[in-house]
Amino acid sequence: MSSTTSTLNVDSKSVELAVKAGTIGPSVVDISKLYGQTGMFTYDPGFTSTAACESKITYIDGDEGILLYRGYPIEQLAEHGDFLETCYLLLYGELPTAAQKADFDYRVTRHTMVHDQMNRFFQGFRRDAHPMAIMVACVGALSAFYHDSTDISDPQQRMIASMRMIAKMPTLAAMAYKYSIGQPFVYPQNDLDYTSNFLRMCFAVPCEEYKVNPVLSRALDRIFILHADHEQNASTSTVRLAGSSGANPFACIAAGIACLWGPAHGGANEAALKMLEEIGTPDRIPHYIAKAKDKNDPFRLMGFGHRVYKNYDPRARIMQKTTHEVLNELGIKDDPLLDVAVELEQIALKDEYFVEKKLYPNIDFYSGITLKAMGFPTSMFTVLFALARTVGWIAQWSEMIEDPSQRIGRPRQLYIGSPKRDYVTVAQRG
Ligand code: CMC
Repeated sequence: MSSTTSTLNVDSKSVELAVKAGTIGPSVVDISKLYGQTGMFTYDPGFTSTAACESKITYIDGDEGILLYRGYPIEQLAEHGDFLETCYLLLYGELPTAAQKADFDYRVTRHTMVHDQMNRFFQGFRRDAHPMAIMVACVGALSAFYHDSTDISDPQQRMIASMRMIAKMPTLAAMAYKYSIGQPFVYPQNDLDYTSNFLRMCFAVPCEEYKVNPVLSRALDRIFILHADHEQNASTSTVRLAGSSGANPFACIAAGIACLWGPAHGGANEAALKMLEEIGTPDRIPHYIAKAKDKNDPFRLMGFGHRVYKNYDPRARIMQKTTHEVLNELGIKDDPLLDVAVELEQIALKDEYFVEKKLYPNIDFYSGITLKAMGFPTSMFTVLFALARTVGWIAQWSEMIEDPSQRIGRPRQLYIGSPKRDYVTVAQRG
């Protein structure tokens, strides 16, 4: 990492600031000493110009539509790799050898069951509870069940906590689904691969044999790869911030799940499908396009736009292909939602408003249609995102814990409230 300086003139003071360059991507101006030198903070709501950490995990070039995990293009990983291999890559920085892969798969598989007491925990929820609410609670509760892997100063405990979360997320997600539909939980079957196991835990019932469809399993595995990490997005930054206080990893990942739930983030796949259902038929699209463009209307085209991607979202392209593969496999020739989606995309991509603001379909635009076709209800979509993103959160959390310069995250503010004033008793208040 090379280093130069830049000069900032503030209030007739001249301050030298270090400029740090990464391997690729924009350089950063190091302002960590700015307050000490000038008595001023920087102001950047939404962190649109602020890098909060150094990272070796994921790189995005939003203008070029590039996404790399540890340097490998997402297209290549999605085409040739599998999800657990991607997990290994994100966690350890290199693709595994055959022996390392076998060992990693075995270690994850050994942890797929959850403590039997967890089953009781579920009974406390209403059957109509949103599965994301259940996930926030259950993943946070893992710290109560697995207290022997909450000491973050012990690398061995950190590793076991990581394995436990990657392995148990599918089990918990499937349990949340089964609970919502009143079916018995299905235990993991560890001779299946990670994603097939998950499909079985979701869709098998004890009274019938269940055969995993390999095309659907491969498609879902690819969807997991696409969602595995996305550098310093809102939920990942939440995990890092929570972890910076020394909180245990289960609590940190629960915080990430809570953040992901929002409709501007992971909740967008659920919101996008609901929007397509609301539009219903292609002839109603112009009405919704007009709503999205109306400044006085809060409606937005869900699954469109991205803070970083201003050209296209490379994940959306792979997702669109996967959608067609899944619909073909299931023999769904005419899906009215797909018709609306394809038409909406065509119209929006030509519309001046969307072109000018560089609003393109993001990954969530097509993922909902695919997951629905596979049999998942909309309320499970963000849960699947959380399942896949868990490895990214853990990799980023581990990187932070291992960084010797790591300190508690503590943003500053521009105070715009009342200046100091004296307390007035109730009797004296007018
Ligand atoms: N429909 C209509 N207008 C939009 C949309 C949209 N989906 N997205 C952005 N705009 C407009 C927005 O009104 C603003 O216009 P103006 O400059 O006139 O005020 C301009 O485009 C810039 O928008 P912004 O909200 O300042 O951009 P942002 O970077 O803060 O927000 C976003 C990014 C993803 C939150 C936003 O595009 C959005 O709300 N999209 C819909 C929700 C969605 O699909 N989210 C999934 C993101 S990808 C998965 C993930 O990472 O979780």
